[in-house]
Amino acid sequence: MAGKGRRPLAAGNWKMNGQAADAAALAGALGDWAADTGPGAADMAVCPPTVQLAAVAQHLAGSWIAVGGQDCHPAEMGAHTGDVSAEMLKDAGAAMVILGHSERRADHGETDAEVRAKAQAAWRAGLVAIICIGESEAQRDSGETLAVLSGQLEGSLPDGTTAANTVVAYEPVWAIGTGRTPTVEQVDEAHKHIRVEMTRLVGREAAGIRALYGGSVKPSNAAEILAPEDVDGALVGGASLQASDFQAIYQALVD
Ligand code: PGA
Repeated sequence: MAGKGRRPLAAGNWKMNGQAADAAALAGALGDWAADTGPGAADMAVCPPTVQLAAVAQHLAGSWIAVGGQDCHPAEMGAHTGDVSAEMLKDAGAAMVILGHSERRADHGETDAEVRAKAQAAWRAGLVAIICIGESEAQRDSGETLAVLSGQLEGSLPDGTTAANTVVAYEPVWAIGTGRTPTVEQVDEAHKHIRVEMTRLVGREAAGIRALYGGSVKPSNAAEILAPEDVDGALVGGASLQASDFQAIYQALVD
């Protein structure tokens, strides 16, 4: 994975899993491992449920593992019951936030325009926006994959997108939590397209923007699926809930 000029990132998306004790145990195990190994040639981040974010950030304080949120509201504050602002995530210890995950697009009807507004909110708070895009199975079957990715990038990436403030995650919806993965050729094709489109949208800055692959990444497939030149790491769901699995995926990025 080395030699692309972009520092790989392994980001763990814990989704809505685990109680406080589970989060503490997982953060503790990762923190101990990080202290033992020291920072490597790739970055690592974990995105716990919002209610556990502050505690996880405290566990990992001083560690080279970053902490992120899983969503934020576009506004800084106000009458938005149940929502959390980017500023609150930052205050709780987050450095980044996942935005536009397909589960949020499906469960909450999030549109590209909303994802874009949330990305601007993340930047306002000083957070890196991890913007998720990806086609459904029906879209892939009907040959629309690349057009879907273009549309999502165009709609979700705000003006002012830079390598420092944004990470893109390509997550085919049909590969998330299913154990099914695209072929390496399909991953390569999608990521090449994403890089071309990012260049069209944000210019030369696109060369430095990291693009992660996500969807059923596990230790046994990480080296193969993350190998394409334009893949700069992984957004990992299920396999990020076991410290040893997530560490193995991280290791595949630095080997
Ligand atoms: P998965 O989830 O690794 O469990 O497929 C990935 C994601 O949704 O970010």
